[in-house]
Amino acid sequence: MSTVDDVKIIELPKFSDPRGNLSFVEQMNHIPFEIKRTYWIYDVPGGESRGGHAFKKNDEFIIALSGAFDVVVDDGNKKMRYTLNRSYYGLFVPSGLWRTIENFSTNSFALEFGSIHYTPLDYIRNYEEFIRFKNII
Ligand code: TYD
Repeated sequence: MSTVDDVKIIELPKFSDPRGNLSFVEQMNHIPFEIKRTYWIYDVPGGESRGGHAFKKNDEFIIALSGAFDVVVDDGNKKMRYTLNRSYYGLFVPSGLWRTIENFSTNSFALEFGSIHYTPLDYIRNYEEFIRFKNII
């Protein structure tokens, strides 16, 4: 079962260029899983929070393509907060962790990659249920 110690900040390649910088990600390289899904969160009012839930199977990789926000991860024993504010850093969040995204700056843009296709059955949206899930497995 994953713990917050399995969460990793991953520095991405960055080609600095006076014409504009370029970064990229590759599956099974910077992103340690095969990408089944890409989604993004945008037009978030400044200061807003989203995503208080856990995924049973879905691993995630999160990039702040623009602006800044905090990803808070919790394994039931320990909590960690990661501030993402550069587009050349990604955060790997394995399945089985409670996670929220907080303090979105105005005009921030969160890009997320997932390891499984969308299904509501993969979500745990109740924190007590999450704690039971962590204790069972
Ligand atoms: P959700 O993951 O619940 O967002 P948050 O946890 O930040 O509140 O997603 C919001 C809605 O978007 C949800 O009702 C289902 C839909 N959705 C999809 O259809 N496919 C997806 O890949 C994702 C991430 C969400």
